Order: sequence, then structure tokens, then C-alpha cells
Amino acid sequence: MHGKKILRGRVLSFNREPTEIDDSGSFDYFEDGAIIIHQGLITAIGNYQDISTDAEDDINIIDHRPHLLMPGFIDAHIHFPQAQVIASWGAQLLDWLNTYTFPEEAKFSDPQHATRIASSFMDELLRHGTTTAAAYCSVHSPSVDAYFGEANARNMRMIGGKVMMDRNAPQGVLDTPQSSYDDSKSLIRKWHGHARSSYAITPRFAITSTPGQLEMAQALVHEHPDCYMQTHLSENHAEIETTAELYPDARDYLDIYQTYDLLGARSLFGHCIHLKPRERAAMAETGSVAVFCPTSNLFLGSGLYDEAGLKAEGVITAIATDVGGGTNYSMLRTLDEGYKVLQLQRQQMNPLKSFYWITLGNARALSLENKIGTLAAGSEADIVVLDASATPAMALRMQNVESLSEELFILQTLGDDRSIAQTYVAGNPFK
Ligand code: GUN
Ligand code: ZN
Repeated sequence: MHGKKILRGRVLSFNREPTEIDDSGSFDYFEDGAIIIHQGLITAIGNYQDISTDAEDDINIIDHRPHLLMPGFIDAHIHFPQAQVIASWGAQLLDWLNTYTFPEEAKFSDPQHATRIASSFMDELLRHGTTTAAAYCSVHSPSVDAYFGEANARNMRMIGGKVMMDRNAPQGVLDTPQSSYDDSKSLIRKWHGHARSSYAITPRFAITSTPGQLEMAQALVHEHPDCYMQTHLSENHAEIETTAELYPDARDYLDIYQTYDLLGARSLFGHCIHLKPRERAAMAETGSVAVFCPTSNLFLGSGLYDEAGLKAEGVITAIATDVGGGTNYSMLRTLDEGYKVLQLQRQQMNPLKSFYWITLGNARALSLENKIGTLAAGSEADIVVLDASATPAMALRMQNVESLSEELFILQTLGDDRSIAQTYVAGNPFK
């Protein structure tokens, strides 16, 4: 299981954010390349001929030519108890939560149900080439145990946490300020730093947390500065209005979280669509991360995320599926929809930036760039094998492709789980 192996194929790994479509200095690319893996880590990448001559005779060589090897994809915002909510018809955010999401999440008090869904959820991620995700679990501790249990069984690097929610939802998905603190605390002790797991303190959003609960979230963040904090921010107009009514003293939506000291470099804010200038500035100043969830924003009719505006202000941005508001587990489908959201605002996302974003970009946003997101020696061997000719339409289109950028754009525009030829987790093949 931990023996040395070589993966052969076309190898692509970014080392910084690309500025333009021909920014070849932003990545390493080996046409006949190789990745050497030992004990779950990448020990070298380079040209196959150079690397294979240094290797021992009995080393296991897996030939993935002509496919493209990249770091495993990273999903910065997803809800594991919504695996059976995805594709629910006809509602915008608040009605969607009340009609579909909260009743479904109530089922996760049952450890057996939670384990069954967590198992399928992890397999879906890997089938779609995603090796790391930051997920919301349900309000119930057993859902977190199921989530990390299934992640650890597959040796995946995963982030997650119990949602804290103590109002404006049915009884079956509510906790209290004290129980949310106690439960989060013992889950952190149990899972944070265990195998490849990291805990995210997860107040769902201001509508479902009383001030008393946000105080508890604040205490948890202070006591566990190496945990993440994740929540939702400024997704939908009705949500923003209700939030302002519940917190009449706040200057704006972000100010609620700011009052409870929840901003910072390990804080992930889902959506960030309708932010005011003060909120953008405060996010930039604190190094807080805005997470773009294009399939969800379109599906729930939430609005258009202003990537260029946030970036110009200096806000760190990540990209994510937000299943089950989001409509696909695939980061390729996510890029495709993201491209269109930006097109509607006359913003252009070039394919190098796209693939940087779902690898090193998201790794940086999650402060994990020294572990994942690149194929640099020393990185954990989470790797995706991509086939840009996976469907007849893709193969036809690939016949007149001349550059790597063109191939990447075909992968993001036409690709999905069928383009994932293989996924490696800490050096071991999924399929
Ligand atoms: N805001 C609060 N909870 C949720 C959720 O589950 N999904 C989305 N998209 N937004 C939310
Ligand atoms: Zn979400």
C-alpha cells in the first residue's frame, strides 16, 4: 500500500495564480511527465525519462498516457446532508431551506442514515475528482462522526463541522447555545488533527443563530485558533432583509459576524454576492475568504458573484459547489457555470486561472498550500487523472486543439465525472 510508484502521463501543476491565458510561468508542465509517490507523499515530479532512470527496477509504474495528471480538486463549500436535497424544484433560498433542506437534515440524528449518506458522499467526491472539501454537517454530532469516519476510511483530507443553529428552523434541527458549544468542543477534541481531518466551527448563518449562540461560536474560535470557521453571507435579498431585522444594531450583514470576532484568514464565507463596500473592505483587511458557488447561485436565483470587484479590493476568493443548493459535485461543471456568471458581468475567467483556482487557489484559501493543491515534492499525493476526450463530443472537439489552455477550457466546458479517469488519495487509486 505504501510502496513506491510512478504515475506516467502529462503532468500539470500550478505554482502561482496565472495572470493571462498564455502565462506559462505560472505552472510546471511535462508532456511526458512522471510523479513519484512514496508513503502517500509526492517525492518528485519531472520528465519521465529523467525520473525513471533514477528509480529502482521493481518500482510500480502506472501509465496514464495520454491523460493529464493534476492535483486533486478542492471544494471549499459543500453540505454533506444535502446529498438527497440536490435537484429540489422551484424555490429560492429561504423557502428552499424550509421546504426541502431542514426536513432532510433532521434525518441525520440517525447515525445509520448519516453513515450511509456520508459513505456515498465521499465516493461521489472522489468519482468527480475532488480529494478535499470543506463541508457543513447537520446539527447532530453523529453526522460529524459519520462524516469524518468515512473520510478517514478513505484517508481523505477533509474539513467539516456540526452546524450550530438555535432558531428559525424546525425543532429537529435545533440546538441551544450551550449544547452547540459543548458538542462542537467535544467534536473538535475527537476529530481535529486526527488523521487528515480538520474541524470547522460552523454557525450556519445569522438567521438561525441567536446572539447568544454567536457568542459561543466566538468562544470556540478563540479557544481553537487553528480550526476553521465557516458560515453563509449575503446570498439572497430576502435573507439579507431578514438578517437586518434580527440584528438591528449591525452596520451591515458582515458586521454581525465581525462583532463576534469571526473574521480572519481561516474564516470561509459562502456566497458574498451582495456585499457593500464596507463589507468588502473588512473582508480584505482581515484576510477572510469569500467563496463563489456558481451552480448554487444560478439554481437558487441568488445573484451574480463579483469576482473581479472582490479581487480588486484584495479579498481572497475560493470556488465551490455548494451541493445541494449547488447542482453538481463536479468542480469542472462548477467552473463552467462560474465562467458564465462572470461572462454576464463582462468578466473573463481564463482556463489557466480556472484550474489554478480549483487546485492551488483553493488550497491557499484554506491555508493548505503546503499539503495539497500542487504536485510539488513534499505534497500529499492527492491526484486527479483527466481525460479531455471522455465523450464523443469532447473527442471531436479535441481534434482541433493545439494548446494546453484550449484543452483545459474543453475540460471545464464539456467535462464532468466522465472526464475523471482516476483519482488518487494519498497515493492510492480510488477506482
Ligand atoms: N444559508 C444557510 N444555510 C444554507 C444552505 O444550506 N445552503 C445555502 N445555499 N445557503 C444557506
Ligand atoms: Zn452553503
